[in-house]
Amino acid sequence: MNYVLAIETSCDETAASVIKFNSKTAKVLSSAISSQIDLHKAYGGIVPEVASRAHLEAVILIIKKALEDAKTNLKNIDYFAVTTEPGLIGSLLIGIQTAQTLAWALNKPLIKTNHLDGHFYSAFINKNNSFAIHNSQFPILSLLVSGGHTQLLLAKKSDNIKIIGETLDDAAGEAFDKAAQILRLGYPGGPAISANAEKIKSSITTDFKLPIPMVDSKDFNFSYSGLKTALLYKVMKKKMKKRDISLFAASFQKSLVESLVLKVISAAKKYKPNTITLVGGVAANKLLRDELSKAVQSLNPSIPFLVPDLKYCTDNAAMIGIAAVMKLKNKA
Ligand code: KG4
Ligand code: ZN
Repeated sequence: MNYVLAIETSCDETAASVIKFNSKTAKVLSSAISSQIDLHKAYGGIVPEVASRAHLEAVILIIKKALEDAKTNLKNIDYFAVTTEPGLIGSLLIGIQTAQTLAWALNKPLIKTNHLDGHFYSAFINKNNSFAIHNSQFPILSLLVSGGHTQLLLAKKSDNIKIIGETLDDAAGEAFDKAAQILRLGYPGGPAISANAEKIKSSITTDFKLPIPMVDSKDFNFSYSGLKTALLYKVMKKKMKKRDISLFAASFQKSLVESLVLKVISAAKKYKPNTITLVGGVAANKLLRDELSKAVQSLNPSIPFLVPDLKYCTDNAAMIGIAAVMKLKNKA
């Protein structure tokens, strides 16, 4: 068995994880995370300079925690892995320099990992924290929705992952965050919007109806700036009562989720995948999980639909360690 210590600092979570693996299996032994959400709340979004400083303060402590939780120590680590792109440059540099220093001091290889590959593989970490992906599961159609990205990916093999659609403007998570700002629901917006939306059991009346973005486009791209602007205008025109906030939250969430589901299903009809997955921070959204699951089931009940456990939806280092293991495997 080999051990990899993975570090993730691309955005607003400082995370480290230990993965144990051989040529056939991989298991997440620990996944330690220090979230900066409370630091950024006051600003209504992520402040890059604040994020870098917080990573600097947390990174060593989080690595120690990941090693302790995995009941191991640095001497047992065979590989180091770190997210090198995409992300906030100041934040990435904290993780990269820490990982480079450890790899150099202990004379072990460093695996540079793409954050989005991490999200892609997170769908294959099961409830027991074991990871496995088989040739028969390909082609895989994956909807990756996070604060920074909205992409539809088609993986024909593990070393052949292509983007077949992406957002033309805001990412889905970013749209949730901006809608929450309009509705004064605070940061991060996704959980706040969905908590408010859940209070609404009735259907959405005309006053609150919002358009479904890109409903008629023939490609697999997404766009959320129009939806956001439509929300802003409707809110500005209205004398807002408390319940109106929840009604708008429900309506916004419904339109955004419908547009995502629509694109995944039309891509599935074209590419006929053997597996469909939903990954990234926005995959924590209950309505999206439920609606996409139902849509896949009614399209073809024999296509497995995989969504990671909530702790592997938002940013974490376990997925970075798994992406590093796959990188080693693809090179072998
Ligand atoms: O993947 P992630 O942790 O970070 C990036 O790589 O960007 O995603 C963070 C995003 C935020 O925009 C947040 O609002 C959104 O995921 N998010 C949600 C939910 N939980 C987190 N969006 C909708 N519903 C949720 N329950
Ligand atoms: Zn992410």
